[in-house]
Amino acid sequence: MSQRKILITSALPYANGPIHLGHLLEYIQTDIWSRFQKARGHECYYVCADDAHGTPIMLKAQQQGITPEQMIAQTKIEHEADFAGFAIGFDNYYSTHSEENRQFASLIYQRLDDAGHIKRKTISQLYDPQKNMFLPDRFVKGDCPKCGALDQNGDSCDVCGATYSPTDVKNPRSVVSGATPVLKDSEHYFFDLPAFSQMLQNWTRSGALQEEMANKLQEWFTDGLQMWDISRDAPYFGFEIPGAPGKFFYVWLDAPIGYLASFKHYCDQNNVDFDSVWQKDSSAEVYHFIGKDIIYFHSLFWPAMLEGAGFRKPNAVYAHGFVTVNGAKMSKSRGTFIKARTYLDNLNPEYLRYYFASKLTSGITDLDLNLDDFTQKVNADLVGKVVNIASRCAGFISKRFDGKLAASIAEPDLLQEFGNAGTSIADSFEKREFARAIRDIMALADKANQYIDNKAPWVLVKDEARQQEAHDVCSMGLNLFRVLMHYLKPILPVMAQEVEAFLNTELTWQNYQTPLLNHSINPFKALMQRVDPLKVAAMVAASTENLQPAAQNQPQDTPHQAAPAVTTANADTPRSAAREPISDTISIEDFAKIDLRVAKIISASAVEGADKLVQLQLDIGNGETRQVFAGIKAAYIPEELVGRSTVMVANLAPRKMRFGLSEGMVLAAGPGGGDLFILSPDDGATPGMRVK
Ligand code: MSP
Ligand code: ZN
Repeated sequence: MSQRKILITSALPYANGPIHLGHLLEYIQTDIWSRFQKARGHECYYVCADDAHGTPIMLKAQQQGITPEQMIAQTKIEHEADFAGFAIGFDNYYSTHSEENRQFASLIYQRLDDAGHIKRKTISQLYDPQKNMFLPDRFVKGDCPKCGALDQNGDSCDVCGATYSPTDVKNPRSVVSGATPVLKDSEHYFFDLPAFSQMLQNWTRSGALQEEMANKLQEWFTDGLQMWDISRDAPYFGFEIPGAPGKFFYVWLDAPIGYLASFKHYCDQNNVDFDSVWQKDSSAEVYHFIGKDIIYFHSLFWPAMLEGAGFRKPNAVYAHGFVTVNGAKMSKSRGTFIKARTYLDNLNPEYLRYYFASKLTSGITDLDLNLDDFTQKVNADLVGKVVNIASRCAGFISKRFDGKLAASIAEPDLLQEFGNAGTSIADSFEKREFARAIRDIMALADKANQYIDNKAPWVLVKDEARQQEAHDVCSMGLNLFRVLMHYLKPILPVMAQEVEAFLNTELTWQNYQTPLLNHSINPFKALMQRVDPLKVAAMVAASTENLQPAAQNQPQDTPHQAAPAVTTANADTPRSAAREPISDTISIEDFAKIDLRVAKIISASAVEGADKLVQLQLDIGNGETRQVFAGIKAAYIPEELVGRSTVMVANLAPRKMRFGLSEGMVLAAGPGGGDLFILSPDDGATPGMRVK
């Protein structure tokens, strides 16, 4: 096995929020792979950093009355503590707001400009005349230009699914100040991505990308690549563009360059040769681990920038899917938006490392953290199988055999079988098929337990004549345990370290097939507690936020209302009711006109091309059914809604939407922003009943 030189990165988390369990999938996946490569004896570096620039970070610091520098410094401390808590073994954790990054960003930009890859063009954008700043799309709100729905995002409508330019929004307002934005011209700098089209088409097919990603990219190539706007006007928290006062690099320009900067910082401090990794025809390997939401940046812009600036490109970009919790998107109101810190306050981090690993493949499908399954699986596998092997053998070795393992191996074939499995387990790790590795390891754990069950050392030790046998069986069991813990070491580094102390040996790929004979071990201490379901519940409770209107990023003059208000979750009013003042009163006669009925959901499905919509078929009694499009997807997996009862407005004029006819509305409540929860009548209600 020849030694490889490998640089590994995870995506750089934004410096304006805490690390949560969704993020952790990525850092755990990358860390396992990095630990595996290091264990194999390769020269391997794993670097990361906080992504510190951009408008949201600038505005959040302003809201807190501190400088962006203060905010990102504080966040970095918290992020690093969270990562350390989960045993993420970065070789360097840095910040994009660093001198190295400024230099690389300037260098890359300069080289691209020299080569004619930067174009300048004046564009017209929405500008907040009160705050004196240009508004990124997500800081504009207004009514949808297509369907008229109120209070939609500046770039897309949750209701009809339309995407548009913020300049087309009706009644636009700035989310920062509430002011009506005006159009203003400004010169922007563009990176000529289309110039790299051919190179990128070849590269994306060179094996650098997973098949699903390459397919996705094909759509973009078919549509034609676009010029990429890489400049932002002051005020902006970032790096000023050399030779362009008042213009700053867009955060996504210098974010991936942060990979170089973090590695450079490490190299300078540790006497490692940076250029030998990043120069054009380097034989070192570079891998980026990312989430599937940022594929575009990593497999188009980034390789094109590197190519244009004379650096090597990554060997591969590995994307993973998104974490859901209990089958739905992480939700603050349901307590499933779990911060790393909240998890650490309650549970052992290696439970999560193990659980994620047991479900991780090389693909980009989403991964569900089902908390019951999590509890059950960790208890069954780690406590019930793996630790069980050691706990059944170790006591006898200490008490009866002077803490020393036997001089020979009782079942050489069995031990050999465990050792031989290393080839395919290593192959699974290498290919990021961690779930497969764990399946193989657990199958071996079952075998080890069967062996111990059959030999029943607890019976043998009671028989004076069979002491040698008992000694051999327990020693055999611990030798099997050692091989398994060696395989699990990249996944469970903390427990592996405790096992190394207990077995008085290092777990390595060099020695794992050489049995421990006549070898002194240390007294056994419990290696892992069972997952306590009460702690899981406590973690969810601690993560459950009251449905208060979010103060953040709201126009300052918006009145606040304490309780979540009821709104109708359909085409017309998916607006965040909690943020609305109590509206004009209506007469009882007006109210009486509304035909509210109990409806039973007979089918529910996602709507292609509309992120927020669920298509519902409702049974409203008397054999009548209605189709309704409801903006409730953020809170539900559509299929789970089938069979539930809810309340609908039955006499709303039908409305033709892009996706079909919507024949009414479903009542739902929400805190504002994403989640809307449908209202449920009590059990006695049946379809068609009037709601008064
Ligand atoms: N700052 C950018 C990345 C710049 S890389 C040059 C960013 N930051 S992030 O904080 O939003 O996300 C960091 C990483 O965590 C991304 O790879 C993202 O896909 C991943 N995840 C964030 N939420 C996630 C889940 N719920 N599930 C899985 N991964 C998730 O994007
Ligand atoms: Zn719309």
